[in-house]
Amino acid sequence: MNIRQNVSLKNYNTFGINVIAKYFFAFNELSQLQTILEDKKYRGEQKLILGGGSNILFTQNFDGLIIHNQLKGIELINEDTDYYYIKAAAGEVWHNLVMHCVNNNYAGLENLSLIPGYVGASPIQNIGAYGVEMKDVFYCLDAWHIHQKEIHTLTKQDCKFAYRDSIFKNKCKGEYIILSVVFRLYKKPVLNYTYGAIKEELEKMNITEIGIKEISRAVINIRSSKLPDPSLIGNAGSFFKNPEVPAHKYLELKQKHPDIAAYSLGNGNHKIAAAWMIEKAGWKGKKFENCYGVHDKQALVLVNFGCASGLQIAQLSDNIRQDIKQKFGIELECEVNII
Ligand code: FAD
Ligand code: EPU
Repeated sequence: MNIRQNVSLKNYNTFGINVIAKYFFAFNELSQLQTILEDKKYRGEQKLILGGGSNILFTQNFDGLIIHNQLKGIELINEDTDYYYIKAAAGEVWHNLVMHCVNNNYAGLENLSLIPGYVGASPIQNIGAYGVEMKDVFYCLDAWHIHQKEIHTLTKQDCKFAYRDSIFKNKCKGEYIILSVVFRLYKKPVLNYTYGAIKEELEKMNITEIGIKEISRAVINIRSSKLPDPSLIGNAGSFFKNPEVPAHKYLELKQKHPDIAAYSLGNGNHKIAAAWMIEKAGWKGKKFENCYGVHDKQALVLVNFGCASGLQIAQLSDNIRQDIKQKFGIELECEVNII
């Protein structure tokens, strides 16, 4: 088994932060994972399961064991009249799975094209984009329970998915290592292009016959035009979640700021675009020490131009949170996992 010591994590997190992990272990078979978890040498070490590192900000060296998931495989395991059941191993790159499904006409993941990271992390925060969340096509998953030392199969109900949330971030935090996920995908596509930007992009592309391939291409175009490519500029996508506020708070804000970007959730509450508040507060495009800052095309994305430390980015996020609290009376919650 290959366990490396004092490994730089710079190429294992999309912020490109250069911290050192005491131990680094990659596995592509369950038996290897079981062996390392049983090994007395590492039992007392803190552990972190790492996928693509696209939702993590390291603020210090990791004094423990990084477990890098490299389980591979995508297969059609079942089908019925309406659905295909696709099982993907946790170490598959998410976008490769989406492309595999789009190319085979398995419908349902196309709106989630080009989200970085691995399949195994997709249930952790129930990834979402352009009107679709992973939970919409999730069927079940297999995960290794670290303490009970057995595989558990969890259904959609078990996972308690919500906006950028699941049981894995709450009650079961740190208990499971996700091994594979089964998606239930449509044979007859249910196309979702209600999100304004997709419609506009399809028109720009002169598309008249819309299918899942076209939606996927439109989403890829939109994302590429707004979000920084982590291979060029370090980032972890949206740094904060979009906050949900009750009706009275929304009305108070709307009165002060008639141009506020928000939408109704149908239950009286509204979701406010955090990017709008951050831009309104003057942070968009700001660069600090020529080295880190706020993306100039999307104010919700904090960026590392190459030489920032995790602490500098964490400090910037704190400053933004305080400023938004002061200006709008809203507490922003981090989406990114700060380690
Ligand atoms: P990592 O960053 O490696 O890990 C994230 C968390 O999951 C950590 O707590 C880790 O311990 C845990 N974890 C990872 N794998 C496992 C496993 N197998 N078992 C148990 N725990 C595990 N997210 C969206 O929802 N929508 C978007 O549109 C979106 N756009 C993005 C755009 C950019 C440019 C970037 C950089 C990020 C974006 N993200 C988006 C965030 C990110 O891509 C997702 O959160 C993704 O699912 C993270 O996957 P990962 O493999 O990189 O996870
Ligand atoms: N806006 C601004 N300034 C900006 C950017 C956006 O004012 O710099 C306003 C605009 O009014 C725009 C609105 O905010 O209409 C929403 O912007 P956008 O469509 O770009 O989406 P978002 O709310 O900023 C969310 C997700 C993204 C996801 C997109 C598309 C969260 C925290 N973020 O961003 O997910 O890709 O919608 O669905 O929910 C991620 O989670 O990492 C991520 C990138």
